[in-house]
Amino acid sequence: MVDNFRMLFIWFLLFSYLRNSTSLDSLAPSQSIRDSERLVSKEGTFEAGFFSPGTSTRRYLGIWYRDVSPLTVVWVANREKPVYNKSGVLKLEERGVLMILNSTNSTIWRSNNISSTVKNPIAQLLDSGNLVVRNERDINEDNFLWQSFDYPCDTFLPGMKLGWNLVTGQDRFLSSWKSEDDPAKGDYSLKLDLRGYPEFFGYEGDAIKFRGGSWNGEALVGYPIHQLVQQLVYEFVFNKKDVYYEYKILDRSIIYIFTLTPSGFGQRFLWTNQTSSKKVLSGGADPCENYAICGANSICNMNGNAQTCDCIKGYVPKFPGQWNVSYWSNGCVPRNKSDCKTSNTDGLLRYTDMKIPDTSSSWFNKTMNLEECQKSCLKNCSCKACANLDIRNGGSGCLLWFDDLVDMRQFSKGGQDLYFRAPASELVNSHGKNLKKLLGITIGAIMLGLTVCVCMILILKKQGLARIIDRNHFKHKLRKEDNDLSTFDFAIIARATGNFAKSNKLGEGGFGPVYKARLLDGQEFAVKRLSNKSGQGLEEFKNEVMLIAKLQHRNLVKLIGCSIEGKERMLIYEYMPNKSLDYFIFDETRRTMVDWPKHFNIICGIARGILYLHQDSRLRIVHRDLKTSNILLDGNFDPKISDFGLARTFWGDQVEANTNRLAGTYGYMAPEYAARGQFSMKSDVFSYGVIVLEIVSGKKNREFSDPKHYLNLLGHTWRLWAEERALELLDGVLKERFTPSEVIRCIQVGLLCVQQRPEDRPDMSSVVLMLNGEKLLPNPKVPGFYTEGDVKPESDFSPTNRFSTNQISITMLEAR
Ligand SMILES: *[C@@H]1O[C@H](CO)[C@@H](O)[C@H](O)[C@H]1NC(C)=O
Ligand SMILES: *[C@@H]1O[C@H](CO)[C@@H](O)[C@H](O)[C@H]1NC(C)=O
Ligand SMILES: *[C@@H]1O[C@H](CO)[C@@H](O)[C@H](O)[C@H]1NC(C)=O
Ligand SMILES: *[C@@H]1O[C@H](CO)[C@@H](O)[C@H](O)[C@H]1NC(C)=O
Ligand SMILES: *[C@@H]1O[C@H](CO)[C@@H](O)[C@H](O)[C@H]1NC(C)=O
Ligand SMILES: *[C@@H]1O[C@H](CO)[C@@H](O)[C@H](O)[C@H]1NC(C)=O
Ligand SMILES: *[C@@H]1O[C@H](CO)[C@@H](O)[C@H](O)[C@H]1NC(C)=O
Ligand SMILES: *[C@@H]1O[C@H](CO)[C@@H](O)[C@H](O)[C@H]1NC(C)=O
Ligand SMILES: *[C@@H]1O[C@H](CO)[C@@H](O)[C@H](O)[C@H]1NC(C)=O
Repeated sequence: MVDNFRMLFIWFLLFSYLRNSTSLDSLAPSQSIRDSERLVSKEGTFEAGFFSPGTSTRRYLGIWYRDVSPLTVVWVANREKPVYNKSGVLKLEERGVLMILNSTNSTIWRSNNISSTVKNPIAQLLDSGNLVVRNERDINEDNFLWQSFDYPCDTFLPGMKLGWNLVTGQDRFLSSWKSEDDPAKGDYSLKLDLRGYPEFFGYEGDAIKFRGGSWNGEALVGYPIHQLVQQLVYEFVFNKKDVYYEYKILDRSIIYIFTLTPSGFGQRFLWTNQTSSKKVLSGGADPCENYAICGANSICNMNGNAQTCDCIKGYVPKFPGQWNVSYWSNGCVPRNKSDCKTSNTDGLLRYTDMKIPDTSSSWFNKTMNLEECQKSCLKNCSCKACANLDIRNGGSGCLLWFDDLVDMRQFSKGGQDLYFRAPASELVNSHGKNLKKLLGITIGAIMLGLTVCVCMILILKKQGLARIIDRNHFKHKLRKEDNDLSTFDFAIIARATGNFAKSNKLGEGGFGPVYKARLLDGQEFAVKRLSNKSGQGLEEFKNEVMLIAKLQHRNLVKLIGCSIEGKERMLIYEYMPNKSLDYFIFDETRRTMVDWPKHFNIICGIARGILYLHQDSRLRIVHRDLKTSNILLDGNFDPKISDFGLARTFWGDQVEANTNRLAGTYGYMAPEYAARGQFSMKSDVFSYGVIVLEIVSGKKNREFSDPKHYLNLLGHTWRLWAEERALELLDGVLKERFTPSEVIRCIQVGLLCVQQRPEDRPDMSSVVLMLNGEKLLPNPKVPGFYTEGDVKPESDFSPTNRFSTNQISITMLEAR
């Protein structure tokens, strides 16, 4: 025991000796730093000395964090020329030049000659990580003869200036290491380009790989939401002497750096003393980050994981054939030649949340306001677009583009307004109003919005504490290894729905009421409170929900999580602002908000969603209750199927089965299902057919009655089809702008789906092909009718759904 202590003590002494004896806080010309020695900053944040990167045995002089593990090197002096064994020495010359010597006393590396007067120079490592040479007796301690911050390697440190000194012409940029083992200059670099309005480019060799972009007062335009840490302050300096970008950290307990990795990606690292070692990856590089991937005059959009390119309004793909096969680099060209010089009726189109185009050839003025900016763009026929330079405080400054617009993207959040010049013919929108007039209104609305925002922020600040508590209690992962599904506290859900208040009720689905939930931080969800009649066990339920959560498709409503408390079971879905399909198509006035192309898009989207459920998902799900009120619409009027998988959850599933319990809704149920409880994918196809015909006609199958012939909607459609008058089915309000062939195709597909015999109906993959016009359509046979008297009347059920009173799902019904 005592021996052990003695040993420890000796080790401690040895350790302290080593540490003290080999650490210097400054280097004078008489001194040197050998391989075993270190230069340490005043407060001990940084350390400089020789090290070997990765698996290499070569020695480099570097700077690293003293207390961060693993070793995090932020700067290397002799990147290109290593010392091959541990005999390297760092020295400071009388003339203030730092040099590294090898064992034969040859200079391996030296800092630059110094032009100003040098008297008693010393080298010091500052607590910012800056290695500096200065005159020891200089009163101004910030008067450096030389500093490592002027020669960045791969790491951008707080206080470092990335950009140009316009007086000396010095360019400070990041360059990647060759590999983890070799700090020599690699292929990648990040530089500030001074052409036009200065902006950052990431290069691979000489080719531009990505564009961080210019500074808009809040962020680089390519990374609009970068405020990872609230304690960071970014600054962009642009005057006659300097153009550079820098950042500071207000909270000294945080370490935050940006590194250009050997593979060419920007990586952000963050440590705090609460989390001893944390790594924050860069904001997920996506395909739209590739420079100019969409070519000229075209906007990159991320649609889930897929990237698409869209021409700006008034432009068309230069080579439509290439465009059709997702080859976009040749971009877009104006639809027709500009007649600006003769007519001068051009206006501006506003796009929001944009990454503004490459500014390397743009014109700018820092003092103009938006109105002046727009005017000067409209004045010059060769101006293509304009935007504010600085988006703070409602916007200031002006950027004008005269060439092709390159490397734009639309963010889902963040970004800024961009105005495209367009001829008058493109400015007229579907309601026939001139956008130019709208512009004024829009600006007014933005101002109002800003005011509201400021108020909201003030209110939210007050609620800050509550919100943090809310967040922390809000969700915890159901299973640690499962990132997809969260469980939610019942109390939080109850609060977010105002205790399941009537006013928050969105509707009543097959398995229980649906409420709108709103958290304190503004997030919105839809909550389905399940009427628990399944008698299913807790574990079983969780497993089932987890399976359903894994079904993900853009035409299915996303299940976010669930909440289980005693007998209460709830499912949490994403919130759909545009409610359900029936809310629009069966209402005289709302119907006009969705035009035919959107209708067609909805018809195709539903088909893709069902196809996914039937064939492509791992569960092979029969929905059993497809109807217009189960098709929700997102902000873009894209359809999303809801309540899928619930029938399975409640009653189990086989591909085809007889059930003595029915789930379904009159008017949508296939005859064999309604009469004999026989369900299959083909019974979903029937329901889909009904939905298609309802969408085209704007009439409910169940309520429809033809006064002359006493036919329901299916019979009526069949009659029109037989008399070759199918187009008459189309709802009057849609007749303004529609494609007859598309409408006919939809009606034919609808009729094929509602055929009497299940085996005659196409499967969903054929339906999708047919809708796309990629498959010949057979002639439909007589649709399946069934008399409603066969099943119990619906008056047994209390109608509670606000939008579809007559479409109550039959949830549990014993067949006769
Ligand atoms: C480094 O190599 C040189 C020549 O190869 C040799 O003279 C010297 O002793 C070596 N130094 C160390 C520390 O190994
Ligand atoms: C290198 O320089 C040091 C000090 O100036 C000297 O002691 C040493 O002998 C020199 N070594 C060689 C190989 O010249
Ligand atoms: C020292 O550097 C010189 C010049 O680069 C080189 O010629 C010499 O071989 C090096 N000596 C050792 C031992 O690496
Ligand atoms: C720096 O100074 C040394 C010694 O005066 C001289 O040999 C060398 O050429 C100078 N280098 C530059 C780049 O001016
Ligand atoms: C983190 O470090 C700062 C400064 O050293 C200190 O004030 C703070 O209390 C530390 N926080 C924790 C959680 O250790
Ligand atoms: C591109 O696709 C559209 C729609 O699919 C089609 O109408 C058009 O003819 C195609 N263009 C070319 C050149 O293939
Ligand atoms: C431009 O193209 C649109 C659509 O093709 C057309 O309606 C319009 O008349 C054209 N304008 C001119 C000036 O050619
Ligand atoms: C910028 O715009 C302002 C206001 O229109 C004008 O006074 C100023 O001369 C412009 N500056 C440049 C460099 O064009
Ligand atoms: C329009 O702008 C371009 C580019 O700045 C300029 O060369 C041209 O003279 C301008 N034309 C007019 C009429 O101002």
